[in-house]
Amino acid sequence: MSRKTKIAVLGSGRGSNFVSLANACNDGSLPAEIVMVISDVKDARILQLAQELRLPSKFIEPGKYRTKLDETAETDYVATLLNSGAEWVALAGFMRILKGDFLRAFEQKVINIHPSLLPAFPGLEAWKQAHEYGVRVSGCTVHLVDHGIDTGSILAQGVVPVIEGDTPESLHRRIQEEEHKLYPRTLARLFNGEISIGQLV
Ligand code: GRF
Repeated sequence: MSRKTKIAVLGSGRGSNFVSLANACNDGSLPAEIVMVISDVKDARILQLAQELRLPSKFIEPGKYRTKLDETAETDYVATLLNSGAEWVALAGFMRILKGDFLRAFEQKVINIHPSLLPAFPGLEAWKQAHEYGVRVSGCTVHLVDHGIDTGSILAQGVVPVIEGDTPESLHRRIQEEEHKLYPRTLARLFNGEISIGQLV
């Protein structure tokens, strides 16, 4: 059997992308193993889902800030991830900006999925921003995480056309369907060596 890459998933919410990654690990299309799931929200659905799937999971207090981890929390997150043996960290709706020691501990090893065609519409509720702007196509982006907000090198994008009568919510639903295919597929290509981080812009 080929080697499985150890990944951790961080999320703050519903966890639908986490489930798509877990399913892909189970059916063998993603040569990876989820070794840890962490949330900054105590009652987040992603933690319940991880328990149902019998995967190691943990709520870790994020500390005093609203949009980032404080120093103690950052240390806790990094220690938990290193102890789990995770080689890569996949963000799946994790609502805090990662910086400093976290990104140094997992240099070029933190991946995110964002619900727009970056560099258009970084930040919150990107599908809503895109809908309000009146774009005719939107989609999602899998990218490396750097110090900026949704600014890291792009690994893959999936296009979702805007259709007549779309609301921000209906557009978001279709973007999420695309995310659930794109994220596991992109990580599989990365772990199979079909995408090389060193060759990204
Ligand atoms: C996704 O739309 C993702 O693009 C964004 O946060 C959302 C998370 O959804 N970063 P879920 O928790 O995976 O359902």
